[in-house]
Amino acid sequence: MFYAFMAVWPENRLVIFIQMVIFSHIMDKFNYKDGKLYCEDVPVAEIAEKIGTPAYIYSANTIREHYRKIEAAFSELDTTICFSIKSLANLSIMKLLKNLGSGFDVVSGGELARVQAIGGDVKKVVYAGVGKTDREISEALQAGIGWFNIESEMEFENLARLAGEINCTAHAALRINPDVYDPKTHAYTTTGKKETKFGVDIDRAGAFFEKYGKNPNVRLDSIHLHIGSPIYSPQPYIAAINKTLAFVKDMRAKGLEINTLDLGGGFAADYEEGASPLAIDYAAAIVPLLKGQGLKLILEPGRHIACNAGILLMKVLYTKKGGEKNFIIVDAAMTDNIRPALYEARHFIYPSKLEADEFPPNRRFDFQPAKGIKVNVVGGVCESADVLAKDRVLPPVKRGDLLAMFSAGAYCFTMSSQYNTRPRAAEVLVDGEKFRVIRKREDYRDIFATELDAIK
Ligand code: LLP
Repeated sequence: MFYAFMAVWPENRLVIFIQMVIFSHIMDKFNYKDGKLYCEDVPVAEIAEKIGTPAYIYSANTIREHYRKIEAAFSELDTTICFSIKSLANLSIMKLLKNLGSGFDVVSGGELARVQAIGGDVKKVVYAGVGKTDREISEALQAGIGWFNIESEMEFENLARLAGEINCTAHAALRINPDVYDPKTHAYTTTGKKETKFGVDIDRAGAFFEKYGKNPNVRLDSIHLHIGSPIYSPQPYIAAINKTLAFVKDMRAKGLEINTLDLGGGFAADYEEGASPLAIDYAAAIVPLLKGQGLKLILEPGRHIACNAGILLMKVLYTKKGGEKNFIIVDAAMTDNIRPALYEARHFIYPSKLEADEFPPNRRFDFQPAKGIKVNVVGGVCESADVLAKDRVLPPVKRGDLLAMFSAGAYCFTMSSQYNTRPRAAEVLVDGEKFRVIRKREDYRDIFATELDAIK
């Protein structure tokens, strides 16, 4: 019926109608208007013309909206949001989040240096990671960060030693491994299950608190969980929280103080339209469990804020056939987004300029436009794994056309590399009608600038 309706409507109005009805509930501000893809109020082709491709384009208002939705959803609890820098580490984006009140989840000295570079509140920094070096720990102690999220007995003892050496008291949470997981999460990003390298098994956590709970150099009064990423339903959180609350009760009965629960990250995002729960869905399950428990809450969202806020814009270089397969070769590659190669992750890819009958009714991977052709979208890196989209039906494209890879705001640029000595892409931030480059495109010399010896 919808398609019949489309057929009798004048083209232009039809396009606007489709955009209004169809894209209104998508979780971002990338929309087609008059056949052109816009980020907020800027046509993405205009950005490509000014700064070239490949380019990451982020929507400031999508980031703000997602942050505020989480904040509102959890407002009944005493909640601190610590944006997970590893998902999208650009300083300008961090500054934007800091201005919204965000703290930061860091996993390295480098990420902490980023927080300091933007003048972020170090008291709202949580520091996780199984392999913190002495240098990193010392720097974080000097900085006076909010919490060290401790991942092992040995790490605790090392932190206590380093804090003792400079006569200070560190503040810590024990990262508990609750042996909970979401079967939909990729094995490489599952972290809350026994026999992953993360945290301390819940069976050992009691002994841990009893041994270290009153250490003079480390104030241990918090618990950290991070069960994986993405977690596609609230259920695993419920299971992990229930186990944790029983544990807290037990510890309190033994006279040990626990006043904060850091729930980690993991809230999902829409790679396909409607695939992810909303912040209010997670909150509806989590808030009632934690209300009245005397626990402050920390959340470490990365993907839920950043993923839908970014696209990777790339240009078609060539099309070719290989056997029965059709290939579109683009100027971006696995070096720009390794997620498809590493996790077989799927990102919706579509041209930035469309005829009226080519509009996707939703961003779903099985959508087939009328004159569509089944293709693999690939990059120019010398690896067969360099596939950005596999067996996808796209409208016909020609050399020079722009393709947008959606839901590319999280774990895409931050996992990019210079393999094959390919300069990393530029990053652009759009805010309403304005846009600015927030990371310059690298040039060849930027790649080998640190190989000092050989440079004359
Ligand atoms: N907190 C901790 C301790 C984490 O390890 C992570 C992510 C987060 C928070 C943020 O999780 P999020 O809210 O973004 O789901 N490269 C993979 C994702 C790896 C996630 C690693 N840890 C990907 O591209 O899917």
